[in-house]
Amino acid sequence: MAEIEKRDALRNDVKQEESVDYRLLAEQMKALAEDVDWEISNLSNASALLYQTLPNLNWAGFYLYRNGRLELGPFQGRTACTVISMGKGVCGTAAASDRTLVVPDVHRFSGHIACDSASNSEIVIPIHRDGKLYGVLDIDSPAFDRFSEEDKAGLEEFVGAVEGLWTAAYS
Ligand code: SME
Repeated sequence: MAEIEKRDALRNDVKQEESVDYRLLAEQMKALAEDVDWEISNLSNASALLYQTLPNLNWAGFYLYRNGRLELGPFQGRTACTVISMGKGVCGTAAASDRTLVVPDVHRFSGHIACDSASNSEIVIPIHRDGKLYGVLDIDSPAFDRFSEEDKAGLEEFVGAVEGLWTAAYS
């Protein structure tokens, strides 16, 4: 292993040991959204909050359900594909089945859409509004097996906080 790879692997290990206070993260999201009446502002801050707080990510953002497919929403990270058909890739599969998908190795997920070749693992969580699919939260990591059961539960709680914003001030 080259020195630089060793250094990065070590750094990744150290980062993975830091655990995230997901309850606090959900509270921070609610505070950021106070008096905000446009959902895009909130989704933009949500993606930034996740990206700056969770260690070891290369992409965090939203695909929104529009025109019978997923379309790129607010995100942090490298430029990404703008349209994902329902049932395609990790995002389209999670959306179509309406279930959270944790993929420890995206290279083993048949049909994975590689927007950024740095991604090695991924979590996708469906989001609802008025009981219907609104979109998905998609988070990618350069580390394999980045998302634990604790991350899954914490991020589902975060999505719950985002869903709770619909009832607030949106016009
Ligand atoms: N990996 C996703 C595509 C979106 S990008 O990662 C931002 C997928 O297979 O659904």
